[in-house]
Amino acid sequence: MSLDHTGKPAVAPNDLSAFWMPFTANRQFKENPRMLVASKDMHYTSADGRQILDGTAGLWCCNAGHCRPKIVEAIQRSAAELDYAPAFQMGHPAAFELANRLVDMAPDAFNHIFFTNSGSESVDTALKIALAYHRARGEGQRTRLIGREKGYHGVGFGGISVGGLVNNRRVFGTLLNGVDHLPHTYLPEENRWSKGLPEHGAWLAEDLERKIALHGADTIAAVIVEPVAGSAGVILPPKGYLEKLRAITKKHGILLIFDEVITGFGRLGTPFAADFFGVMPDMMTTAKGLTSGTVPMGAVFTTAEVHDAFMTGPEHMIELFHGYTYSGSPIACAAALATQEVYREEGLFQRTAEIAPYWEEALHSLKGTKHVIDIRNLGLIGAIELEPIAGEPTKRAFSAFLKAYEKGILIRTTGDIIAMSPPLIIGKEHVDQLVGTIKDVLEALD
Ligand SMILES: Cc1ncc(COP(=O)(O)O)c(C=O)c1O
Repeated sequence: MSLDHTGKPAVAPNDLSAFWMPFTANRQFKENPRMLVASKDMHYTSADGRQILDGTAGLWCCNAGHCRPKIVEAIQRSAAELDYAPAFQMGHPAAFELANRLVDMAPDAFNHIFFTNSGSESVDTALKIALAYHRARGEGQRTRLIGREKGYHGVGFGGISVGGLVNNRRVFGTLLNGVDHLPHTYLPEENRWSKGLPEHGAWLAEDLERKIALHGADTIAAVIVEPVAGSAGVILPPKGYLEKLRAITKKHGILLIFDEVITGFGRLGTPFAADFFGVMPDMMTTAKGLTSGTVPMGAVFTTAEVHDAFMTGPEHMIELFHGYTYSGSPIACAAALATQEVYREEGLFQRTAEIAPYWEEALHSLKGTKHVIDIRNLGLIGAIELEPIAGEPTKRAFSAFLKAYEKGILIRTTGDIIAMSPPLIIGKEHVDQLVGTIKDVLEALD
């Protein structure tokens, strides 16, 4: 056995124990690892040399598909040209170019961008901006944040506080105080088998009026929701729901934040969910598809009204005491610029809108398949909900995930729900393969 520089026995590089894997059943994984070693377009290559069709765009992020030459080259070029530039009190051209590019593609109301490195950081950034915005305008008593049951906003303390998934919250202490939650919009009895947006449940937005009556509007800084909830198992907003939230927040001077970490960059066939629904929040949090998952990066979009509230003090003073070492780092900016170029050149958002009806029909053809109790879809998002095994929730879906991987497709499960969000370059033959394989897997499953 070789020794490391401290004289301890060196760990073999392929020993799996040192890496504590995120959101993973570590012991199960290490008994039976699923290793990916390469990727191209719609496929991963597994360590045992199989082609795995990517039904999830990695983790909802590789919207342009994998290892696209334009993005790869941009990253390589940037790494060789300007590896890093300080993010505070210094700049580099690509960050400004990217911010302009993002503002151009966003709905008109958005004209400022704050860069982060992830969805979680984008969420914490937006929540902090919301609090500081009210304070800057002399309404510092607006400190309350309102999220929603079953919401997922990443794993920072801000994000888990406004989030509403119990496993992500319950062992982490008291979280932020002064947070309240709207009811979720998962209404299976009323909305089962809906194609696209469900009909029932817009009234749930009116709960916000009750929260306002309880706390007082002038104590509430912001409401944050995912326009389409992903991690909870794909929960779609009922028709008219987001419009109501917007009307109520506007009436009471409360900022509305859309967490567009999964919906941003084309997932619904439009640049953002705000475009798709025609509902304009005051801030949008994004990440993932910004760089097609290649380099960690996030971006918070704000209106001029929010941004300008900060631009008031002496000009030599920092206006917002917030930012990250890697905010707008050169390599991430290069990746994001090239990614946006690929989306534009290949018309991938439009393409998503075009293939979405085929996707919808293919998914709903699984109605009647063993174990399936609901199917939901929007844009290139799909969810297949399974009947849980009595007393063993999540086990059936996890078995389906493992079997599907054996059969050459990558899906994702949360609870007993199979969630899919393929790269936007998906073809009809891939849709057929995904749906056909899932059918085979479910029919063979206990
Ligand atoms: C809606 C939403 N917000 C935030 C996040 C967190 O993003 P990250 O994992 O990049 O921190 C996610 C991740 O899935 C998400 O779906």
